[in-house]
Amino acid sequence: MDPYRHRPSSGNNSSFWTTNSGAPVWNNNSALTVGPRGPILLEDYHLIEKLAQFDRERIPERVVHARGASAKGFFEVTHDVSHLTCADFLRAPGVQTPVIVRFSTVVHERGSPETLRDPRGFAVKFYTREGNFDLVGNNMPVFFIRDGMKFPDMVHAFKPNPKTNLQENWRIVDFFSHHPESMHMFTFLFDDVGIPLNYRHMEGFGVNTYTLINREGKPHLVKFHWKPTCGVKCLLDDEAVTVGGTCHSHATKDLYDSIAAGNFPEWKLYIQTIDLDHEDKFDFDPLDVTKTWPEDIIPLQPVGRMVLNKNIDNFFAENEQIAFCPAIIVPGIHYSDDKLLQTRIFSYADTQRHRLGPNYLMLPVNAPKCAHHNNHHDGFMNFMHRDEEVNYFPSRFDPARNAEKVPIPSRILTGCREKCIIHKENNFKQAGERYRSFDPARQDRFIQRVVGALSDPRVTHEHRSIWISYLSQCDTSLGQKLASRLNLKPNM
Ligand code: HEM
Repeated sequence: MDPYRHRPSSGNNSSFWTTNSGAPVWNNNSALTVGPRGPILLEDYHLIEKLAQFDRERIPERVVHARGASAKGFFEVTHDVSHLTCADFLRAPGVQTPVIVRFSTVVHERGSPETLRDPRGFAVKFYTREGNFDLVGNNMPVFFIRDGMKFPDMVHAFKPNPKTNLQENWRIVDFFSHHPESMHMFTFLFDDVGIPLNYRHMEGFGVNTYTLINREGKPHLVKFHWKPTCGVKCLLDDEAVTVGGTCHSHATKDLYDSIAAGNFPEWKLYIQTIDLDHEDKFDFDPLDVTKTWPEDIIPLQPVGRMVLNKNIDNFFAENEQIAFCPAIIVPGIHYSDDKLLQTRIFSYADTQRHRLGPNYLMLPVNAPKCAHHNNHHDGFMNFMHRDEEVNYFPSRFDPARNAEKVPIPSRILTGCREKCIIHKENNFKQAGERYRSFDPARQDRFIQRVVGALSDPRVTHEHRSIWISYLSQCDTSLGQKLASRLNLKPNM
C-alpha cells in the first residue's frame, strides 16, 4: 500500500464522459435546446449537474491560515527518547512515520501574496500506528497573547477593517496597546523573520507547551522545535516587494519545484523538556505561550528528522480539505494546562465541522491509517459503508473492547474558579534580550518597522506613548530611539 495515497476507491475510470451517476454523456459541448438557437431545456440534466457542481466548488476558507501549501514525506526517529515518552512513533531510532505538512500564512485570504509580513503556519500530521498526531505550529516560537479569550478580537484587529476591507496598522497598534505581553512576539514579527524567504528556509515551533509522559507515568513539560537543514533565510522588505510583484505564490512554487527536482526539504526535530516538579524554578511561567525557554538552561535535545519527498496529488483534497487540530494527540503526548492551548483544543475541530462538515475526519487525508473502531456514525456526507447491526456499546455481540490504559498526567489540580491573568507575567525581559541580540543593522530595520506601524495617521499620541513605554521597558535605548524618530519623549 502506498502510505501517501489519499484517494477514494472510485475515480475517473470510464473512457467516455458520464454524469455523476454514471449515465453516458453523448455530447459534452452543447446544451440541449429547442432548435439550434435555443431556448435551453430544463431537462438537460447533465448541463444542470455540471453547473450545480461548479457553483459549489468553493468551500469556506479557513478563518485564519487560509493561504497554504502542502507536501508529504516521512519522519524518522534519530535519537532515543523512550525514557521521556511512550509514544509508539518515537519508540526507537530508525522508526519511520508518514507525514503530511501544511505551511501557511495567517491573516490574509486564500489567494493572497506569500510575501506579506505575517507569521507562517507549520502544521505536521503524523500518521502513526496509534492514530494521528497533529503538531500544529508556527515559524515563530511565541505568540501574541496568552489567553484564548482574546484570540477572536486579536484576529479581527489583524484582518481587514470591516468597512474598508484593508488591513490597517492603527487597528493593530490600538489592539496591542492593551497587550504588553505581545511585545516579545513583535520582536519576531517586525524582525527579518517576519517574511521568510520561502517555506523551506524557516523554522517551526510547536509554540504551546505540551506534556510528554513515559510508560511509568512520569510527565515532562515539552516544547517542540523544527530546524531546517538548509538554514533560515528571509526576505528584506524591498526584496519581498519584488518577489511578490513577480509571483504571488512564490513559496508554494518553491516547495513544489524543489520536491519535483528531488531537492527534498528536511528539518531536524528537537525538544526542550522540564520536569513537572521544576516548573516554578524560572522567572517566567513555562505554560506562558509568550515566552521561550532559554536554551542555555533548558537545552535542545535531538529527536528525529523530517523529509518532504512527495508533492501532493491534488490541492483541494490535500490542502483545502486537510484539517489539523492541536487536540489530536497520541498516547505518550498530552496537553498541558497552557490556557491558550486549552482554547485551541476546542476551536479547531469546531471550525472544521463547519468548514468541512461533521464527517471531515473520514476524508482520506484526515483519516487515520491505522485500524479504528467506534459507533460515531451517519450525519452529512457520511461516505463510509458500514455493514453492521450492533452500533451501540456495550454489547455481547461486538468483541471490540476498551484499548489498553494510556498514561495521562495524574497530578491533583486544585484552585478556585476565577478569570484572571497569570502571576508571572514578566512581559518585557525576553523581548529586550532578543532585541539586544540583533546586530545594529537588524535593530535598525526592526525600529523602522515599528515606526512604520506607529506612523499610521490614525494612531494617536496616546497609542504611540503606550507602545514606546512598553518597548522602553524591553530596552531603554530602543524606547529612546523610537521616541526620537517619532518626535516624542520616552517613557510617556
Ligand atoms: C489554524 C484557532 C492559536 C497555528 C487555525 C484555525 C483556527 C485556529 C480556527 C483554522 C483551522 C481550520 O479551519 O482548519 C486558533 C485559536 C488560537 C490559535 C483559537 C488561540 C487560542 C494558534 C497558535 C498557533 C496556531 C498559538 C501556533 C502554534 C495554527 C496553524 C493553523 C491554524 C498552523 C493552520 C493549520 C492548517 O494548515 O490547516 N487556528 N489558533 N494557532 N492555527 Fe491556530
